[in-house]
Amino acid sequence: MNDQQTLAQRADALEEKMSRELDYIVIKSRLYSMADGDMDPPPNANALMAANPNARVLMGDDPRLPPMPEQPTLMDFFKHRFGPAAHLLQSARHAVNAGLPEKMVLACLLHDISTIGFIRGDHGYWGAQLVEPYVDEEVTWAIRAHQVLRFYPDDSVGYEYPQSYIKAFGADYRPDKYVDEDYHRMRDHKWYMSGRMITVHDIYSFDPNVHVELEEFTDIIGRNFRQPEQGLGFDNSPVAHMWRAMIRPAKYL
Ligand SMILES: [Fe+2]
Ligand SMILES: [Fe+2]
Repeated sequence: MNDQQTLAQRADALEEKMSRELDYIVIKSRLYSMADGDMDPPPNANALMAANPNARVLMGDDPRLPPMPEQPTLMDFFKHRFGPAAHLLQSARHAVNAGLPEKMVLACLLHDISTIGFIRGDHGYWGAQLVEPYVDEEVTWAIRAHQVLRFYPDDSVGYEYPQSYIKAFGADYRPDKYVDEDYHRMRDHKWYMSGRMITVHDIYSFDPNVHVELEEFTDIIGRNFRQPEQGLGFDNSPVAHMWRAMIRPAKYL
C-alpha cells in the first residue's frame, strides 16, 4: 500500500474495492462522510458501475443490516436498529420505581432514542421530533428539554451538574448560546418539571447486575405510543422519512 495515501483515501479505495466485488454500491450520505472528517467528493457511482456492470446503487434493503418488518413498530426499531438500550431501560425502570406517571415513564424510555438510533448532536431535539406525532405533547416537550436541562443544576430536586460532563467536556465547558437561551425559555415553561424529571432519572451509575427487558414496558408503550398501523416510516406523518432513514440509512436517493 502506498504510504502517501491518506487514511481517507485508503478507506475510499477499500470501499471501492468492496463495491467492485459486491452486487450493490453504497454511496454514503454527505453527513456520514463529514462525520469521518472526510470532505472529499463521493465515490463516482457511474465509474463503480462501469467496473462492475452487475452492481447497482443501493435503493432497497441494506443487506448488511438486519431485515425490518414491512410495518415496523417502535419495538422493532429497538430490536433491529437501535444500539444498546440499557441506559434507557434502566432510566424507565427508575421512573417506575419513583412512581412517575406512565407518560413520563415513556419519556424516560425514549429520551435518548436519537443517540442510540439516529444523530447524537442535539439528540433531545431530534428525539422529540421523531416521536412527536405519536406521543402526548408533554412527552415531546420533555424529551427536547432534557438535553438542555442536563447542563443546569436544580437544587429543588437535588439535580447537580453531572460529574461525567466535567470529565467528558472539561471543567471549563459552557453550553452553546442557543442551549443557554433555550434553558431560560424552558425554565419558565409549564412543563419545566417534566423535562427536569427526565434529567433526574437519566442515571449513569447502574447496577451491572440489574437487567431490564424492553418487554417490561410493552403495556406502557401500547397505552402511550400511538403506533401507526402502516408502520413507522410509512404513515405519511411529517417525520416518516426520518424513520425510513433508520430503516435504509444508505439509500442512494
Ligand atoms: Fe440525553
Ligand atoms: Fe440519557
